[in-house]
Amino acid sequence: MKHEIGVGLIGLGVVGGGVARALLERGDYFARQVGANIVVRRAVVRDLHKPRTVELPAGVLSTNVADVLDDPDIDIVVEVIGGEEPAGTFIRAALKAGKHVVTANKELIAKAGPELLAEAHEKGLDILFEASVGGGIPLIAPLRRDLLANRISSIRAIINGTTNYILTSMAREGAVAEALLKEGIEPTQVGGYGEALKAAQELGYAEPDPTNDVEGYDAAYKLAIMASLGFRTRVRPSDIVTEGITKLTARDFRYARELGYVIKLLAVAERTDGGIVARVAPVLLAQAEPLAKVDGVYNAVQIEGDLTGQVLLQGRGAGADPTSSAVVADLIDLAQAIVLGARERKYWGLEAAVPVLGLEGLESRYYLRVNVPDQPGVLAQIAQTLGNHNVSIAAVNQKEADADERTAELVITTHRAREVAMRAALDEIRALPVVVQVASFLRIEG
Ligand SMILES: NC(=O)c1ccc[n+]([C@@H]2O[C@H](COP(=O)([O-])OP(=O)(O)OC[C@H]3O[C@@H](n4cnc5c(N)ncnc54)[C@H](OP(=O)(O)O)[C@@H]3O)[C@@H](O)[C@H]2O)c1
Repeated sequence: MKHEIGVGLIGLGVVGGGVARALLERGDYFARQVGANIVVRRAVVRDLHKPRTVELPAGVLSTNVADVLDDPDIDIVVEVIGGEEPAGTFIRAALKAGKHVVTANKELIAKAGPELLAEAHEKGLDILFEASVGGGIPLIAPLRRDLLANRISSIRAIINGTTNYILTSMAREGAVAEALLKEGIEPTQVGGYGEALKAAQELGYAEPDPTNDVEGYDAAYKLAIMASLGFRTRVRPSDIVTEGITKLTARDFRYARELGYVIKLLAVAERTDGGIVARVAPVLLAQAEPLAKVDGVYNAVQIEGDLTGQVLLQGRGAGADPTSSAVVADLIDLAQAIVLGARERKYWGLEAAVPVLGLEGLESRYYLRVNVPDQPGVLAQIAQTLGNHNVSIAAVNQKEADADERTAELVITTHRAREVAMRAALDEIRALPVVVQVASFLRIEG
């Protein structure tokens, strides 16, 4: 029986540092659970002189990845550098060298997970990736194992903490501004996207280049992984209709609130008769929905299984401690298997491919904000255009946008309609001489 499981870390940043700290501080407990010590033999970084959050024994730190790959006493490689390359090359080399892999890399798993797992399978090895989605929230293991008996019909998630923090700030500042105005006090904060992003960056919740988060790409990687596992078919990030939050304004938050909704960046994958429909976009979500109450940097995922009904998993989606909890859980799982001499487990068996539909598969209710001249007959033309495309109006609110310019703002909500029909109608509405602009177009969920 093995008495020591050797670990090689590739990356010792936020997550790698957290993992090393947990292994050092809680090693005795892990050893009792596993039946062998889990020992960090090497940690590979780019810069040996950078200050670290954890002190490793002398000689462990290295800048040469071969120190991990060529060490026969390293059983498990933990890849926590991120990005597609060189992470992909390092993981393939680790498998070639007969080592199991744990990774937190959503982009790589979303784009190449099934291929990497197939390579591992050929060699009787495992790749575990619990930390790739939702940080400390157990999501991958439930989707791979605990919910396996179910036919999953939908996955709906708030899965990006940065955007949820920004949207929560915009909603709160908007509500505060409104309350101040009611008291006759002119608010200094307007609850705009730019201010909320800046505050998130100052607090370290948003990167200096926030593109990956605010354009929805990060959420799309995570949804691709969850949907591929949940539906047992390949859902690629490029299959997912992805829209970011950068065009939202304080006005949308105000009107959403008045209509009984909050605005959230929602990642949704659903099984429909024609195939799977997956999208990441800001939506109006009914205030009574459980996901509407998930605020700040918190994440939550709602999974609908035919046997379980609705399951809601919620918690911290990022940060050194929550994410290291997920990485260490994978390490312990693998270490136990190694100690027991177990072979790899087939947890991502893809079934026959189910088509993944793009916009043509999408149906929703919609919210439109349209700026028009304040004159009779305008609404009739817009309603007629929507009707021509089988989109029926649920409600219209007219807001006075600018009394001097004599323009008004129409807030229109529709009944459920096909997105292609809605988009065709929108193109015609934009071209109407009576329309100044379609300022917002959002889907309504729940
Ligand atoms: N941060 C989170 O809260 C979180 C949550 C969930 C998942 N993740 C995922 O976890 C992974 C790591 O994220 P992180 O936040 O820990 O990143 P990070 O703080 O930027 O750390 C990256 C580490 O990788 C090292 N590194 C980068 N390129 C390298 C290379 N070519 N060769 C050797 N070492 C290299 C860096 O070395 P130096 O230190 O010398 O620069 C650093 O130690 C990513 O896939 C990320 O998406 C992160």
